[in-house]
Amino acid sequence: MNTKVVLKHAKALIHIAYVLIVNAKMLMHNTIMLTRNTIVLMQNTIVLTRNTIMLTKNTIVLTQNRRTLRSFHYPSPTMRDALRVRIGSLLVALLVAQSIGAGDRAESVVKYRQSVMKAMAAHMTAISMIARQEIANDRQLAAHAEAIHGLSVGLGEFFPAGTDATKVKSAARPEIWGQPAEFKAAGAKLESESAKLLQLAQQRVTASNAAPNLHARLVSQVDAVGAACKACHKTFRKSDTE
Ligand code: HEC
Repeated sequence: MNTKVVLKHAKALIHIAYVLIVNAKMLMHNTIMLTRNTIVLMQNTIVLTRNTIMLTKNTIVLTQNRRTLRSFHYPSPTMRDALRVRIGSLLVALLVAQSIGAGDRAESVVKYRQSVMKAMAAHMTAISMIARQEIANDRQLAAHAEAIHGLSVGLGEFFPAGTDATKVKSAARPEIWGQPAEFKAAGAKLESESAKLLQLAQQRVTASNAAPNLHARLVSQVDAVGAACKACHKTFRKSDTE
């Protein structure tokens, strides 16, 4: 072989290598695209499944209602009552479908409830400072109590199934869904204790006619609310070390 031929072969080899690299790059790109598409497909399938379940539930309710309506040719008073119940249940089903159908993403629900918790914690710090007379200006006393109580109402609604720590990053313990009655009771306890705090806080502690011992009563009620927060966390929230 002369040099010319060797050079020719070398050139051909370099070209082949180049083509191989380009193909490998294309292959990687395609694999990435395929993975992305698979993820999107999976997400869509989940949404589709959810909607199908809701649709099935609604269809069942609708069928039940149709059946009931068909059996009422001449509505008697009792029949009319039953009819009302049926229509009521249909409306409830539709409302439920709508609120779930809105399809809040699990990540959003968790972020939202954590923000609400943090907001309550900040108001607790602030109201506790006023109660303990570290801050004399009590202008916003009631506002803090209103926020804590207002945010405590319906807090449990932001722990729907599917928002546990196996699916999203969350400190929610599985007990929330395993012991729903206890979880509900823990929420109700916060509601009632914060309502008592609000009642107390609606009085200006600096007013000339302020109730006697208002500060001391505020302190003990702030502590009662704090205890309600802790009681729920103890069972239903993972500690940082878990
Ligand atoms: C009914 C149960 C319950 C009650 C009552 C409750 N919490 Fe929570 N809290 C939780 C759970 C569960 C989490 C974990 C939420 C998550 O990570 O998804 C949490 C999380 C928190 C967090 C951490 C938020 C973050 O950034 O991740 C703070 C702060 C907090 N709560 C403060 C409070 C305060 C203050 C109160 C009382 C005014 C209170 N909580 C009452 C159940 C409760």
